[in-house]
Amino acid sequence: MKLFQNKNRPIIAHRGANQIAPENTLAAFELAYQMGAEWVECDVVLTQDEIPVILHDRNLLRTTGRKANIDGLQFEDLKHYDAGFQFYPNYQGTNIPTLKALLDLALKQGKGINLEIKPAKREYAERTAEIVRQMLRVYEKKIPLLISSFEFKAVKWYAHYASELPLGFLMSRWDPLWEIKISEFKVFSIHCNEKILNEKRVQALKLKSQYVLAYTVNDLERAKELQSFGVDGFFSDNPHLYQEKPS
Ligand code: G3P
Ligand code: MG
Repeated sequence: MKLFQNKNRPIIAHRGANQIAPENTLAAFELAYQMGAEWVECDVVLTQDEIPVILHDRNLLRTTGRKANIDGLQFEDLKHYDAGFQFYPNYQGTNIPTLKALLDLALKQGKGINLEIKPAKREYAERTAEIVRQMLRVYEKKIPLLISSFEFKAVKWYAHYASELPLGFLMSRWDPLWEIKISEFKVFSIHCNEKILNEKRVQALKLKSQYVLAYTVNDLERAKELQSFGVDGFFSDNPHLYQEKPS
């Protein structure tokens, strides 16, 4: 799979266009696609009754203003939570979307999704991976998909049971064992916190992976510096990052 068709705009919209619409909502994803992003990144978690939904934090307080853990709620309960809370009064009443709704949107738009599997608890990693995979089956030949997770058990689950799906290895802190870890499976891409990257590290990563991506980059100067090291693309809160005029 070729990650970016337009290599002049190597952007994956982080949680959608989350600066102008509530993060991880259909509105934010739709805007990101409209703004030209070929990919959106989303965080996928299960409700208590195992419905995959798009949400970053285990607790809903920050994004909805109401305290509750997602793994303690039934899907039906989510209608009482307003994902538009941070953009009040605009986007008031916005739903926490299901993964299925995002897949349908990407299918309609002909665009890609990076699904970051974010189990509510470490012990749910494999179950979350499995349930999400079941949902992906009818979409995976129709839209570009890229799987990643901070939970190594979820990554390994995909490597073992769904090796046909492109897989990204995530690193928030530099892991001296990264090379040993990824030697266990075929990685499509390595996704790193931009703060841990320098030229030497990027070069080392590039020897092992077709694509090296950095998150979260909202500064064009920094994006260009990382590109000069060999970074291929960026998770950004701003889908228009590459349309900004250099200062
Ligand atoms: O997947 C890249 C990035 O989203 C990882 O960090 O915390 O924003 O999910 P986070
Ligand atoms: Mg994420």
